[in-house]
Amino acid sequence: MSGPNTNYDPVEVAVLRPEAVQAALSAAINDIAAASSLEDLKSVRIAHTGDRSPLALANREIAALPPAAKADAGKRVGQARASIADALHVRQQELTDARDAQILVDEVVDVTLPAQTGPRGARHPLSLLNDRVADIFVAMGWSVAEGPEAELEWLNFDALNMPAAHPARTMQDTFFIAPEGSGALLRTHTSPIQIREMLRREPPLYIVCPGRVFRTDEIDATHLPVFHQVEALAVDRGLSMAHLKGTLNAFASAMFGEGITTRLRPSYFPFTEPSAEVDLQCFVCRGASAAGGEPCRTCRNEGWIEWGGAGMVHPRVLQSCGVDPDVYTGFAFGMGLERTLMFRSDVRDLRDVIEGDLRFSAFFGGEI
Ligand code: FA5
Repeated sequence: MSGPNTNYDPVEVAVLRPEAVQAALSAAINDIAAASSLEDLKSVRIAHTGDRSPLALANREIAALPPAAKADAGKRVGQARASIADALHVRQQELTDARDAQILVDEVVDVTLPAQTGPRGARHPLSLLNDRVADIFVAMGWSVAEGPEAELEWLNFDALNMPAAHPARTMQDTFFIAPEGSGALLRTHTSPIQIREMLRREPPLYIVCPGRVFRTDEIDATHLPVFHQVEALAVDRGLSMAHLKGTLNAFASAMFGEGITTRLRPSYFPFTEPSAEVDLQCFVCRGASAAGGEPCRTCRNEGWIEWGGAGMVHPRVLQSCGVDPDVYTGFAFGMGLERTLMFRSDVRDLRDVIEGDLRFSAFFGGEI
């Protein structure tokens, strides 16, 4: 029976010979010193300490050695590997320091250079006005509702008591969406939002509906083909013209100053009965110019400014939305936002509102 291989000579394993270990160490030290970047060093680290590096392969041979030879070979390889780890650590630190120093040079900021100043932005005065209107109603407990700009003809007209061929349709010159007879159009007012909300929700309903609307109107100082309206609708038990008037006065005071009131003049809208034009008491002269006081540019000495339309929701409109007119009544009103901006901020020409000139926004709007 053969005994343990106590005579085995470790130098017979070529990779464990002192010269071989020394050669692997020297090669590693040279490569580490030559690495000129952290990337290079990463490759060097893999080549000299990775699983397939000469010293890792040599290390594996140690396990097969006789016990007497293990310690010597283990020490030799272990010391070489430790030297490589130390050298890597030192070089890693040197290269990191060099990289950081270079970043400081490359990204230097000259704080003495003059600052680059671009024009400051400003929110558009219409956006500000829109937000303000919504805030006023939200503060009274109402909610904001929105609807699509491309709308169904039925919601824009029919459900609002304007069936096909109703003469009132011609009051709102309409962009129809091709093909002819598609039943789709660009909404001419914000009133279809009322219909959508009444169809969607049960009364009581208190909503304010801001939005962009479209009419085939020629552009001039007081008309735009694309403009904004804000609509209010309340549906509840026992609502009357008194509630309409109270709400309008609260809205007028919040927008134009404490104590500013409104006046209702009889009018006609197919979707309200009775219907009224809403006039706003002039918030500049408070009516004094009409009573012989100083001339007033804002109301042209009328004492009142035309503001929008209003009325009690027509029972037929309630019915077409599934709301029982014997149980519920409603009131609604709608204003043009551009026209409101005109007299509120003394804008003379609506074309200025849509030009997108920052000076206009900066002057009438607020800086962001
Ligand atoms: C309506 O559109 C109704 N839906 C308003 C309403 C709502 C009445 C609820 C009753 C109850 P009217 O067509 O009058 O009404 O338009 C309302 C406002 O839109 C006008 O007072 C005006 O301020 C503004 N407006 C109308 N056409 C233009 C336009 N081409 N350019 C700018 N503003 C316009």
